[in-house]
Amino acid sequence: MIKKFKLAILAGDGIGPEVMEEGIKILEVIKKKFMLKLDIKEYLVGGVAIDKFGTALPKSTIDGCLNADAVLFGSVGGDKWKHLPVEQQPERAALLPLRKILNLFVNIRSSKLYSSLSHLSPLKSKIVNNGFDILCVRELIGGIYYGIPKGQKMDNYKRRYAVDTSIYYEEEITRIANFAFEIATFRRKKVTSVDKANVLETSILWREVVNKVAKKYPEISLNHLYVDNASMQIIKNPMDFDVILCPNLFGDILSDECGMITGSIGMLPSASLNKSKFGLYEPAGGSAPDISGKNIANPIALILSISMLFKYSFEQLNIADAIESSVINVLKDGYRTFDILTTNTNEKLLSTSSMGSKISDYLKHEE
Ligand code: NAI
Ligand code: MG
Repeated sequence: MIKKFKLAILAGDGIGPEVMEEGIKILEVIKKKFMLKLDIKEYLVGGVAIDKFGTALPKSTIDGCLNADAVLFGSVGGDKWKHLPVEQQPERAALLPLRKILNLFVNIRSSKLYSSLSHLSPLKSKIVNNGFDILCVRELIGGIYYGIPKGQKMDNYKRRYAVDTSIYYEEEITRIANFAFEIATFRRKKVTSVDKANVLETSILWREVVNKVAKKYPEISLNHLYVDNASMQIIKNPMDFDVILCPNLFGDILSDECGMITGSIGMLPSASLNKSKFGLYEPAGGSAPDISGKNIANPIALILSISMLFKYSFEQLNIADAIESSVINVLKDGYRTFDILTTNTNEKLLSTSSMGSKISDYLKHEE
């Protein structure tokens, strides 16, 4: 039986369209190899949408995303639009509202250190000897980033002050915790929940609710860490972690920490999901204006985002695995973009487009 999926593609700005072109090569191979019917439609977002429609998130793009089964996103932003008021700039005006509109309450970032790249990690080789594989599950649309009141004010003594409010509803914690435990059942069955329950009320509730959810998943082991300790343990023993479950702010920070200990942002995929399996998939990095237009950006973060898309939204695990295996094998054979190139003599430097073609070739022949 031929399966049918609708995919909205939002390439955006900077290196977004460059890496997206390589993603489309991969999608073309998948269509043929796995007999999938993929209905792909492209929409404008970010700076390119501002140039054409005067807004970073046109209605046609929103409708296209709402109509699709999943969204593949490149990146947005660049100096050209920095003169605009901040709320009209591509990142603020496109990505943040899109997450809200699509109700993407989960953000997952996969930080894997593949064994052929373990020398890129800033951590000592005895710590990362066989690589690590951490999945950060971050609550994305609650907590201190969205709580009200928020803003800057003047008090009665004419002192200026600012306020942010951290609020979590029990149901918000329950749904993200459920998600983390579900995902852990397909992995190494371990959840580390991060909070600051020694100081913050929201964290006390967080811990209580996570413990309650954990009762439904007796096969998953759960431990709790305060965020300050978590940041230390990740550096000390990254191999001890499987799924890390975090409120919005802590997840923002820890997912960057986990990403950085892989040594390369060009390799990091991410996904933002809601509970109906719908998701937006994108590289963890931005539009990289310093390297855009040069055909040197690493397309692997985007290609691994496609692998996540097939895993979490389309639930085609064999396709997700085939994409990841081709990436692993290309790396094993020494092919590198500039950002992951070292002085090892067996390494061969590839451009963005030749890396995309190389991975497509491997994928065609993947068993
Ligand atoms: P960035 O992630 O674009 O760049 C940081 C560094 O990482 C740069 O040196 C860049 O060359 C490198 N890098 C990123 N992706 C790479 C890849 N695939 N291959 C090789 N090297 C790569 O972050 P930055 O410089 O803070 O922001 C640049 C622009 O991107 C800004 O306008 C920012 O607002 C926007 N941005 C957009 C995001 C999104 O679309 N989700 C996320 C983060 C930033
Ligand atoms: Mg961040």
